[in-house]
Amino acid sequence: MGEEIQYSRFTKTDYQKFSSRLKQETALVKNWFETNRFSSAPLMAGYELEAWLINKTGKPVAINESFLKKANNDLLSPELAKFNVELNVAPGNLSRNILSTFETELDSLWQQCSQAAASLDSAFLGIGILPTLQDSDLTLENIIQGSTTENSDDRITILLDDSERNLVLAEMRAFLASIQQVNQGLSENNMELVASSARKSGNAAQGNMPGSIAGKLPIDFKKLGRDTHARFDQLAMDAEDLEDSSHTMEQLSRLMKNCVSCHAMYRIDI
Ligand code: HEC
Repeated sequence: MGEEIQYSRFTKTDYQKFSSRLKQETALVKNWFETNRFSSAPLMAGYELEAWLINKTGKPVAINESFLKKANNDLLSPELAKFNVELNVAPGNLSRNILSTFETELDSLWQQCSQAAASLDSAFLGIGILPTLQDSDLTLENIIQGSTTENSDDRITILLDDSERNLVLAEMRAFLASIQQVNQGLSENNMELVASSARKSGNAAQGNMPGSIAGKLPIDFKKLGRDTHARFDQLAMDAEDLEDSSHTMEQLSRLMKNCVSCHAMYRIDI
């Protein structure tokens, strides 16, 4: 999980390793079923919906940044292409009336979006792939590049506002705390501590970055960030399943290459 497979040919040992891992993991899932390790919390539901910003002739318009500013709602976030926006909902218990609750919420969010779009001389359309989309629309300028500038050292500056910067830096300090605890767990041979502290920096801990930040972070930054969270999750899982500290150390060292390379590339200014 969380790791690109870079090879298309595999050796006999790879296949053997794969098959033994598969057996181990199947046994583990069986054990989790038997010991009721899965969540017994009530079922939850949520949704995400993608929409397009179009002009009066039905062509896409690359204005999601000004649109999001105008709409100013945490349930909206930018997509990679500047003519797309994603709508979300706060997840709710899967109760009898959840669908009508969602409908009411979506209705009001949709109205807000239509108004924001109208104020920018455009319209809001819910569709998978816009039929009027042309090859010529798919340019680099229409992709979110993030809000960056050059500066006197050789890193790229990401420009955020004060509270956005605080959010990112708080996440960073949480990364560092996890690393310290993982190391402590390793030195005390306490794999439970390793797993629980790594999980604190995993994907679930990432929370929802406000849409305003997501639009300002360069793609490579986001990729590295996501990969780092995924590596924490993988480390946590393997620590529990394999209890092999040298494997964990190797994972930790590879994970920390992400910290090093991102820090070498970016800094944040206000
Ligand atoms: C996707 C990019 C990225 C990754 C991955 C990343 N960082 Fe950072 N980190 C940053 C940036 C950017 C800053 C701000 C640096 C600056 O402005 O000079 C920062 C700052 C920090 C700070 C300073 C926090 C503060 O309050 O000033 C710490 C600590 C830190 N990172 C730890 C880590 C650790 C540990 C990891 C790896 C587990 C990590 N970071 C991974 C981008 C990243």
